[in-house]
Amino acid sequence: MTFQLRVYVPDHPLVKHWLAVARDVNTPSVLFKTAMTELGRWLTYEATRYWFPTFETTVKTPLAPCPATLINPEIPIAIIPILRAGLALLDGAQTLLPLASTYHLGLVRNEETLKASCYLNKLPEQFKPETQIIVLEPMLATGGSIMTAMAEITKRGGDPALMRIISIVAAPPALQQLSQHYPSLTIYTAIIDEGINDQGYIVPGLGDAGDRAFGT
Ligand code: URA
Repeated sequence: MTFQLRVYVPDHPLVKHWLAVARDVNTPSVLFKTAMTELGRWLTYEATRYWFPTFETTVKTPLAPCPATLINPEIPIAIIPILRAGLALLDGAQTLLPLASTYHLGLVRNEETLKASCYLNKLPEQFKPETQIIVLEPMLATGGSIMTAMAEITKRGGDPALMRIISIVAAPPALQQLSQHYPSLTIYTAIIDEGINDQGYIVPGLGDAGDRAFGT
């Protein structure tokens, strides 16, 4: 079977609204953080819409038995925020998935070479084969960070076909690399921008997501 990377840009007023707030240079850090939380929430909502494992059962209301659909508790769910900026999406994702395990992955990019290196890795040694994984990485720019993260996750048994990447702004260089190396992957993003500048920032983008979320 041949796969092709799927990139969804949900056409939702709340996604558009919070993206506009996040993009605006005049948005203060505290409101930027709110925008990221909301985007994390709504994009996770969209990402789980057709993907989550459910099972059919019956429940009894106070009046009568009726058919019901529940989330299958036997399928592990993992959220992986890519630090720092991915942390800003975590609250929104966790409110929808309170039972998910959260595994932090800290990456820093060298501002000259734009290469990412890992300074914190709390991934499990091995993911269970059926684990559904949500990766939180707000800016898919050069692809350096997400490709490093994908290598760490797949090395531990994470299956790209069972993964969803939640991003806020995605740019062609990262999407091209992901498409080439992980064609079975699915991405949910608030927008796809035209490109990146010489410093590796997405244009128009929203600036440095980590600095703006944490007021640094
Ligand atoms: N990381 C950011 O925070 N912003 C960009 O535009 C690119 C990478």
